[in-house]
Amino acid sequence: MAEYKFFPISVPVSEEDLTNYITIRLAMLKTNPEAFGSTFTGESKNTRETWRAKIDHEGRCTIISADASTGEWVGSASIATPEFMNKPESPNALIGMWVNPEHRRKGLAKGLIEVGMDWLRKRTDGMPDEKRMLTLEVHRTNESAKALYDLLGFRELEDTEVECPPDRIPMFIVAK
Ligand SMILES: CC(C)(COP(=O)(O)OP(=O)(O)OC[C@H]1O[C@@H](n2cnc3c(N)ncnc32)[C@H](O)[C@@H]1OP(=O)(O)O)[C@@H](O)C(=O)NCCC(=O)NCCS
Repeated sequence: MAEYKFFPISVPVSEEDLTNYITIRLAMLKTNPEAFGSTFTGESKNTRETWRAKIDHEGRCTIISADASTGEWVGSASIATPEFMNKPESPNALIGMWVNPEHRRKGLAKGLIEVGMDWLRKRTDGMPDEKRMLTLEVHRTNESAKALYDLLGFRELEDTEVECPPDRIPMFIVAK
């Protein structure tokens, strides 16, 4: 059975990690276009510097799961903080969650979220709950992702003020 390692991409990002990130990001947009707000066609046009600016920021944690024997990157998720988004009032957001179909149902998404939650817990230690919140939006029809988030303790955000497209459910958990 395959073994996996989980790690956040280091900032500043190395050239090799940047190339691997571009590859996995385009793979997720191509494989599961229904799950994301961006498109493969749109992001294919990014320059290398645009890609770098997306992940090379201390306010973003880009987590990777890699096949331990081949080194191939097979899963990814990111936490975007208010500092990264340049929106001081916004909560932290889990974005870009994806696992290569050949490696699903092996606990990779769960592992990616655990690493991200650890990072957020340390970053927001001692802060009030609203600063420790991790939010996400999941499409109403995305049964596998909804099952995953339910399992990990995410709850539906009831706040009617929250801006979320009607075809998605806003969810949250507090990282502490
Ligand atoms: C959703 C997704 C990230 C799950 O990745 P994964 O690595 O297969 O998930 P895990 O193996 O960590 O699953 C953990 C638990 O989540 C639930 N779960 C995950 N996929 C499921 C599925 N297809 N059906 C039912 N439950 C599922 C199960 O409870 C599972 O535990 P179990 O396997 O012991 O029953 C993956 O299916 C994916 O990349 N989908 C396409 C992109 C996407 O939808 N991203 C989310 C955007 S919000």
